[in-house]
Amino acid sequence: MIKSIKINEQLEKYISDHSYDLHPIQKEIINHNKKLGEIKKMQISISQSYFFQFFIKTNNIKNILEIGTFTGYSALSMALAIPKDGNITCLDINKKTSEIAKNFFKKANLHKKIKIILGPAITTLKKFQNQKIFFDMIFIDADKENYKNYFNSSVELIKRNGFIFIDNVLWKGDVINPSKNDKLTNIIREFNSLIKNDDRIEKTILPLGDGITICRKV
Ligand SMILES: C[S@@+](CC[C@H](N)C(=O)[O-])C[C@H]1O[C@@H](n2cnc3c(N)ncnc32)[C@H](O)[C@@H]1O
Repeated sequence: MIKSIKINEQLEKYISDHSYDLHPIQKEIINHNKKLGEIKKMQISISQSYFFQFFIKTNNIKNILEIGTFTGYSALSMALAIPKDGNITCLDINKKTSEIAKNFFKKANLHKKIKIILGPAITTLKKFQNQKIFFDMIFIDADKENYKNYFNSSVELIKRNGFIFIDNVLWKGDVINPSKNDKLTNIIREFNSLIKNDDRIEKTILPLGDGITICRKV
């Protein structure tokens, strides 16, 4: 049995070189984020964006909710894959990064497909639940302290057979390191255990990027 290999920057580049070319604005966002220092890590990996695009196209996904948008790389990547009548709703609390994301969406001429709602995601999710708004796919990638709340709202907001993705579930590998007992590592561990026992969804953890859980509502 071959174990999963570690994807370093060179392998990530190799994958990129052997996939289709990134859109010029995807490249611009990546370059923008590279200059931001440590927080550049917030952006999903290029492999994850290829995976999302393939998944969206092959599953006829039209309406997407993203919880945690940062400077827009994941939202723009997904918007490039949805059909003409598709749309993406993004939730983020940070006005500055949301403005940056909006400028990139406009530059790519995708601003009509992507809407950003500013504010605590929990508040917007509750509104959506009251309004009975549903999505084909939800991507959870915001504050880890609220992952459990985001997940429970998402199960309500996703259509039957729809998909929920949750990023950072392997937390740099710290989930299996017994010497790591900080708050966020424990939150991720508890979250993963909660998902394992939830029979409203089918799920699996993919070792892609920082670990991503994919769920289908049954
Ligand atoms: C990991 S980043 C998202 C990265 C993005 N998906 C990408 O690939 O570029 C997390 C984002 O969640 C946002 N966030 C943090 N707490 C939030 C909250 N309570 N409500 C909404 N957004 C929040 C942050 O402002 C940040 O932009």
